[in-house]
Amino acid sequence: MPKPFYITTPIYYINDVPHIGHAYTSIAVDMIARFHKIAGREVFFLTGTDEHGNKVAEVAAASGMSEIDYCDKIVVSFQNVLKKLDIENDYFIRTTSERHKKAVWKILDAMRLAKTDDGQDVVYSADYEGLYCTGCEKFITEKELVDGLCPDHKVKPEALKEKNYFFRLSAFLPKIKALIESNELLILPEERKREVLGLINQDIPDFSLSRERVKWGVPLSFDKEQVAYVWVDALSNYISAIGYGDDEATFNKWWTDGEVVHLMAKDILKFHTLFWPAMLLAAGVKLPKTMFIHGFFTVDGEKMSKTLGNTIDPNAIVEQFGIDGARYLLLTQFPFGIDGDVQAKRFVTKYNSDLANDLGNLVSRVAKMMIVNFDGKIPKPSSSTKEITEIMERTEPLPNTIYAHIKHFRLSKAIDEAIDLIRFTNKYFNDKAPWKLVKEGKLEEAGGILYACAEVIRIVSIVLFPIMPNKMREIRNVF
Ligand code: MSP
Repeated sequence: MPKPFYITTPIYYINDVPHIGHAYTSIAVDMIARFHKIAGREVFFLTGTDEHGNKVAEVAAASGMSEIDYCDKIVVSFQNVLKKLDIENDYFIRTTSERHKKAVWKILDAMRLAKTDDGQDVVYSADYEGLYCTGCEKFITEKELVDGLCPDHKVKPEALKEKNYFFRLSAFLPKIKALIESNELLILPEERKREVLGLINQDIPDFSLSRERVKWGVPLSFDKEQVAYVWVDALSNYISAIGYGDDEATFNKWWTDGEVVHLMAKDILKFHTLFWPAMLLAAGVKLPKTMFIHGFFTVDGEKMSKTLGNTIDPNAIVEQFGIDGARYLLLTQFPFGIDGDVQAKRFVTKYNSDLANDLGNLVSRVAKMMIVNFDGKIPKPSSSTKEITEIMERTEPLPNTIYAHIKHFRLSKAIDEAIDLIRFTNKYFNDKAPWKLVKEGKLEEAGGILYACAEVIRIVSIVLFPIMPNKMREIRNVF
């Protein structure tokens, strides 16, 4: 029996409504989860929202709401997008939930008791020194400054100190490096693995586990003046959601005995590949098996941003192309795993060529001919042409080939292979013109062609089900 399969998206920040960047990862994970499910595996798919931190507090204040009221309002738009895109997540974690808080306390306690190999405390308190903007009410980094000024408030930040609890990251880096090098912790694609190993070779400072000046967060159980650092809070979602704080049996099933896979884009690589494994090692919790880091996309060549006004609302794509159209188009814009560009103007042509012309046409013409000429029954197979043999030879291994692609996160390749076969078959159908054969009384020959086409449609309706569940269900109903 394969291990239970536990797969996650990052939890999304809710200082704004969701955009297609969030939808992209959620659709990808949904596709992978559904594929494993139809292959007979037990699957748990987690997504959710990251609701703490200064930014959320700021936008809540700006809209005259309490932090939690603001979160309760915006979280609905994230949950609605999931429904709208037919994402089948098994659980939705919110970092403001009581259950999540309990898990954060538990992992913090475990880390606080932990010692490094040379007997030092993993967690220690020290002063954090940094540049603080009183307008933003937060520390900002040198990199964020524009001409030495806070870009939002145009003032010079003050050098300030506050007490923080720190995590002794340096003590864990050699071990993490070895785990990544040996693929025990598998970082994919290879290029991202190299990037992480490169990061480890630079000197990465210990990170804060807590902040004093941030107020909207999980207060530490052992120091009420501090709240948990947003990344410690956020990363813990992967275990809080399956019972780390409150349901040991479920936690063991999915985490300890399961195969754990995290998906994300490269923007949050460091936190996942270094901070998270270090936290888990310190707390005595098993590490995930795989982290797949997909590409980051721009929209019409520009980074998506509120100020540029080029963020795309996933709801709008669903309105225009339907649920399955939106899922398909978002995932096929560029190869999964590398960076790319999304151009809304390409959606229409892609939709028309792949879905309407190739897939849609083949299905409707084959079904119609079977109804009209074969009493609505599937005619007998034949191998009267070399193309039929080729089609059959390509169709038979398709489920296995495509499942192998999915296991290796080649999502757009998986989709392309199915569509390529459809395109080939559609062209064959056109060239052979079975409707003419029927007129000439060559019913057996026409039937053989239809049979081959129907077999392609049958297999494709299975392998494309994870990306277009509704359309594939419709097609299966027709046949
Ligand atoms: N809250 C943190 C993650 C905490 S996980 C423990 C966060 N949130 S986020 O809202 O900024 O989401 C980032 C993630 O959204 C990316 O890692 C990626 O999965 C997805 N994407 C957001 N914009 C995207 C693109 N333009 N392109 C591809 N993925 C995108 O970081």
